[in-house]
Amino acid sequence: MVSRVVIDFAEVRLKRRTGATYGSHMHHRGGLRAVVALSAVLWAGTACGSKPETPGTGSGSGTGTGTGTGTGARGDGGIDAAKGAPTFAEVVSTATAPTQIVELVKRDPGSLAWIMFLYVNWPAKAGERGVPDPGGTLGATPTVFQTWKEVHEVYLAGGAAPQPWDDGGPSGPPTLSLTEIDGTTLTDVNGNPITYTVAMNQGAFDYIVSRALYGWNGQAALRQTGAAPVAFPASAMEVKAAWKILDPVADKDRMDHYLVAQAILPPANTKVAVGLTALHITSKALPSWVWISFEQIENPTTTGADYLLPIDPAIATVNHVMQQALAGTPLAYYRANGVQTEFVAGGAPTLLANSQIETKFQKTSSCITCHALASVSTGAQPRLDFFQLKAGNLSGFVGMPPTSPFGPGPDQYSALDFVWSMREAKR
Ligand code: HEC
Repeated sequence: MVSRVVIDFAEVRLKRRTGATYGSHMHHRGGLRAVVALSAVLWAGTACGSKPETPGTGSGSGTGTGTGTGTGARGDGGIDAAKGAPTFAEVVSTATAPTQIVELVKRDPGSLAWIMFLYVNWPAKAGERGVPDPGGTLGATPTVFQTWKEVHEVYLAGGAAPQPWDDGGPSGPPTLSLTEIDGTTLTDVNGNPITYTVAMNQGAFDYIVSRALYGWNGQAALRQTGAAPVAFPASAMEVKAAWKILDPVADKDRMDHYLVAQAILPPANTKVAVGLTALHITSKALPSWVWISFEQIENPTTTGADYLLPIDPAIATVNHVMQQALAGTPLAYYRANGVQTEFVAGGAPTLLANSQIETKFQKTSSCITCHALASVSTGAQPRLDFFQLKAGNLSGFVGMPPTSPFGPGPDQYSALDFVWSMREAKR
């Protein structure tokens, strides 16, 4: 599975001599020796930063992500070159503990992003939903999030109650959506649509069921006087994934650059193999959730869509460390675009996007602001708009969300605690 390649150490040394600053597409200091020694990952010269990267092509005797149980060496939960990739125990103990998520996201957002990415992409235990397999090999599928409940399993026709969480595992391949939320379709270089799935973990699912929010009637009940506001538990997580159809001929050289899934492609409901081009991850650890986005680093070449916002230098550094530590696995071909926890910072709106999911409005994409508008009303318009027209273009809302649309009035709205996919509820 892992191909052996010759590693050009001369190239590595040259790069290390010529620069060591964050934005300059160079490795940061101290990386080489530490990663090789501690993670048994060989280091190949690579570019690093916000532009398309080539992940490390070297493959060592392991990926540094085995099933170790020790947490001692890391201590603070952060990722750096000296410590290599976090272990299974470190990933699970942080990603499933909201207090740890909150602590780490404040101190080291890049490390938190990668721990959450590794958690949702950890191979799942066979026959169980959402349980990571300690013996799983990174890159194997289905992953944890691929066994979560997909929106099509939750928001059923007629607003019927979904099957229980533990219904024997995913009933079949997920059904893909063909458009972005602005109604456009991103077409890859093979002429196929980029497609989407949305899924939730058990914490989110159980809450939706407990309040009957899977159907229109349960959501309309939120408009009654005295109804408790929607408030997901801190354990809730959701993902939105973007997938590229893998063409056996055109993509044959990059099949192992993707996390792969089998899926159903409408309208003819053909079975297709798809590769993950992007992943949004959210956690309710904070009251306004934690917003994380990853994408596959070859997207500009394969989908023609480039990421247009800057990547925070500290996050770029963690990306680089992890791409090295995961070399030889498909996960090495991904990077975090960023982490968002605030509406504004330093007086300016915060922005975060993904080239695959908010392709055409990246520069007005604020995950947290748009999701704060997730809403229901029994008035004339059941959901708030999340786009405005600016200079003839669709533009997202950024910064602090408005408060006036929310209230008891007939044309006002109840907030859905940032979960927009609830708009899928049927009557
Ligand atoms: C302009 C509005 C808008 C922006 C900006 C936006 N989203 Fe969403 N998001 C949606 C809508 C609408 C859905 C519902 C699913 C669908 O129709 O695709 C959604 C679905 C999701 C989901 C599935 C859970 C849910 O809330 O239903 C996640 C996770 C998510 N988005 C994360 C993000 C992240 C992370 C960002 C920023 C990088 C982001 N979103 C930016 C509108 C937005």
